[in-house]
Amino acid sequence: MTDLIVTERDGFVQTVRMNRPEKKNALTLAMYGGLADALAKGETDDDVSVHLLAGGGEDFTAGNDLNDFLTITRLSGTDLERFLLTLAGLQKPVVAAVKGAAVGIGSTMLLHCDLIVAAAESRFQFPFVNLGLVPEAASSLLLPRLVGHPRAAELLMLGDPFDAARAYEIGLVNSVVPTGEEEQAARALADRLAARPRDAVRKTKALLRQPDEPVLDRIQREARIFEAALTSPELREAVAAFRERRPADFTRHAR
Ligand code: COA
Repeated sequence: MTDLIVTERDGFVQTVRMNRPEKKNALTLAMYGGLADALAKGETDDDVSVHLLAGGGEDFTAGNDLNDFLTITRLSGTDLERFLLTLAGLQKPVVAAVKGAAVGIGSTMLLHCDLIVAAAESRFQFPFVNLGLVPEAASSLLLPRLVGHPRAAELLMLGDPFDAARAYEIGLVNSVVPTGEEEQAARALADRLAARPRDAVRKTKALLRQPDEPVLDRIQREARIFEAALTSPELREAVAAFRERRPADFTRHAR
């Protein structure tokens, strides 16, 4: 862990902050290592229910450090690859608070997050072709699935920047808030997720993250998970709360 990646836990939310503001949080290999370590640690910490990704200073991240691109000759086995595989494999939900620049991996990592709040003045960009590169982080698969081929082609083949309103319009982010309020809004969402039944949230995320399955198979797989959940303490608490006309409290169950 480096001080370029700052981790803090408050309640059941772990915030992982990219913190190199003078370089717009451009990510070096060491920072990817710090991100991967922080997320992996939060994933195994029973006191963490939700990961929150944020940037220090004015930006989310301006993407991979462009100077590093001149020295990197491979991705496999690097901390960049480890970060992406860790992020994509998280079982706990991930909330992102975006502001300023969200360029390159700053945009592609959002495709692996679950709920995303953007500041009104955020700037997104998938600039790869303009650098002579190609999409990464499975964005060539996930972006067309999310926004459709024509818009994904526009974003990935032209590589122009776009604003928060456009990001909301195409479904890349959940909401746009006034600049300066994004982290508070993201934190509120993270707290709401953390108050939900833990296992149900994680199993729902796992189902959402595996879309390539025939509908008939999915109905049966959901049913098997649903059946197992019928004996959960969370369901008993939800039904008891309904009967007693009080809010459900899931925090006392194992996390
Ligand atoms: N790698 C390394 N340094 C970066 C960086 C990056 N990806 N993005 C920004 N920086 C540095 C700049 O070199 C500058 O450093 P300096 O003050 O020592 O000169 C500092 O961060 C501020 O950036 P600057 O370009 O002056 O800010 P801006 O507001 O004019 O522009 C961006 C912001 C994000 C549009 C612009 O910095 C940019 O295009 N960055 C590159 C984004 C990119 O291509 N990322 C790789 C994707 S694969």
